[in-house]
Amino acid sequence: MKIAICVSGGGTNLQAIIDKIESGEIHNTEIAVVISNNKNAYALERAAKAGIEGVSISPKDYASREEFNKAFLDKLNSYNVDLVVLAGFLVVIPEEMIRQYRNRIINIHPSLIPSFCGTGYYGLKVHEGVLERGVKVTGATCHFVDEGTDTGPIILQKAVEVQQDDTPEVLQRRVMEEAEWVIMPRAIDLIAQGRVTVADGKVVITE
Ligand code: GAR
Repeated sequence: MKIAICVSGGGTNLQAIIDKIESGEIHNTEIAVVISNNKNAYALERAAKAGIEGVSISPKDYASREEFNKAFLDKLNSYNVDLVVLAGFLVVIPEEMIRQYRNRIINIHPSLIPSFCGTGYYGLKVHEGVLERGVKVTGATCHFVDEGTDTGPIILQKAVEVQQDDTPEVLQRRVMEEAEWVIMPRAIDLIAQGRVTVADGKVVITE
């Protein structure tokens, strides 16, 4: 299976995927390209170090959102990938891309959806919301991308305990280590093995 990984920042989820392809925990998968909307993203350096092609494409470089959306889709299509992985990608996915890649785009979100998700909940803001509300359990969710924000079929989730003295940064790190870096690679492996299907808007994982 050929995949594209879209990133905006540090790229620790990208790194987890690179490492687990190398170690053989993710089977039958090749990263064809890493796409960043931010040319300074550390994720692009991680890609370069691993010998993976990196490209940057930003809405800021285009006169309109429509032009960006078309250029982004053309760029992605040129790699002929089977799966698109959003690993901390902070750009809204164009609707045309969602249509063309129906149930072939996955995202990692740093909470247990449907809590602390949707518009405005990304990155540290999610963990700030968790601490503000005082929930005792949070986690991460890997899901397919549909037209809504964090509304697509859920593939895997993993719970993480909130500790009394957590800061947003400390909690973010624990959610990454214990949940994100585990379930995103596992979801990719399950998809590569052809074990993930969507029926009635829900994911079914076969043995
Ligand atoms: C991750 O925590 C990811 O779950 C989150 O951004 C971070 C990216 O970190 N994504 C979202 O909030 C999407 N709504 P990384 O660049 O180190 O992988």
